[in-house]
Amino acid sequence: MDAKKPLNLDELMEQARGAALKSYSPYSGFRVGAALRLTSGEIITGTNVENVSYGLTICAERSALVRAVAELGPEIRIEAMAVANLNDAASAPCGACRQMLAEFTLPEAPVVFPSGDGVRKMAFRELLPEAFAVKLPR
Ligand code: THU
Repeated sequence: MDAKKPLNLDELMEQARGAALKSYSPYSGFRVGAALRLTSGEIITGTNVENVSYGLTICAERSALVRAVAELGPEIRIEAMAVANLNDAASAPCGACRQMLAEFTLPEAPVVFPSGDGVRKMAFRELLPEAFAVKLPR
């Protein structure tokens, strides 16, 4: 098997931008991409997919997450993530995405996203402090 590549957040951001090119966002015109780096070193991307019934829209971050679980299984753990958009706007992950990601993301995982002034980097635990989490019997 290939050795795990060192984490490169600039590269991860580029992959998030690449994913945003695939966005289906005819209603908002807001094209978002996300790239999740897993502890295995694999990178899984996602983009936002909108719907005419607006509330059914799925964000880029959650589309990447469900893709990662569907492709690799429930043991995946996210060690870093990047979010990008093609609209030159600030876009931190929304609250719903933070809650979904919390279940699979290491608390210290760096999260990079466009903020008002360039790219911002925060640990996941700073993005969602006091996350609602219960340990369910498996
Ligand atoms: N969106 C994302 O993909 N990620 C976020 O964290 C915030 C919002 C999408 C949803 C919708 O398609 C568009 O951006 C405008 O809200």
